[in-house]
Amino acid sequence: MALRLDVLTLFPGIFSGFLAESIPRIAVEKKAVEVRLHNIRAWSADKHAKVDDRPFGGGPGMVMTCQPLVDAVEAALAMRSPPGRLVFLTPEGRRFDQQLAGELSREERLILVCGRYEGFDERVFELLKPERLSIGDFVLSGGEVAAMAVMDAVIRLLPGVLGSAESAASDSFANGVLDHPHYTQPPEFRGLAVPEVLRGGNHAWIDAWRREQALARTRRFRPDLPR
Ligand code: ADE
Repeated sequence: MALRLDVLTLFPGIFSGFLAESIPRIAVEKKAVEVRLHNIRAWSADKHAKVDDRPFGGGPGMVMTCQPLVDAVEAALAMRSPPGRLVFLTPEGRRFDQQLAGELSREERLILVCGRYEGFDERVFELLKPERLSIGDFVLSGGEVAAMAVMDAVIRLLPGVLGSAESAASDSFANGVLDHPHYTQPPEFRGLAVPEVLRGGNHAWIDAWRREQALARTRRFRPDLPR
């Protein structure tokens, strides 16, 4: 069954190029995922369709107001059963990683909520009790790019999306280590040759070489990763 993905944002247009190209597009065409974009502004009860206001206590920037957001989320939750996993993209969230991508790819339904401005009114979290996810310790101007990162990592893991099941199974982080190096044609480029073992056709040797290279690269580039 397809993963149903609802995205709540003030800027649905940001997603159109992403969904129209490459793997996300293939996943939509193959009906591995069904993506629905919802404009939070459409739920604003304000006559000028306002969605933000100045922060209580003062300070720079604007805060997204409760009403449009809570109504939009409740409408999305009610659109189909089961209600699904509700995720807000925000820098204070749990750090997203490959393990969580795998977990989310096994859900029937995900609702991703993107913030703008200085963030969400904190009461939204008390009311909706969502999960908070961050893609790293830096601040984006909105959750949309973070939502696309999460969507991309999840979508490529859905059954039938990549060419072969091994493609995802051998990715970096899938086994707690980085991926092994890759080579293609030509056999020599500017004096640099493809390692001999890869051209020899002995698959046991190739597998052993790749495992060893993956471990060496993990030790060198990411000594912090579990192995
Ligand atoms: N919104 C702004 N910055 C973000 C981040 N690093 N991760 C997720 N959502 C965000």
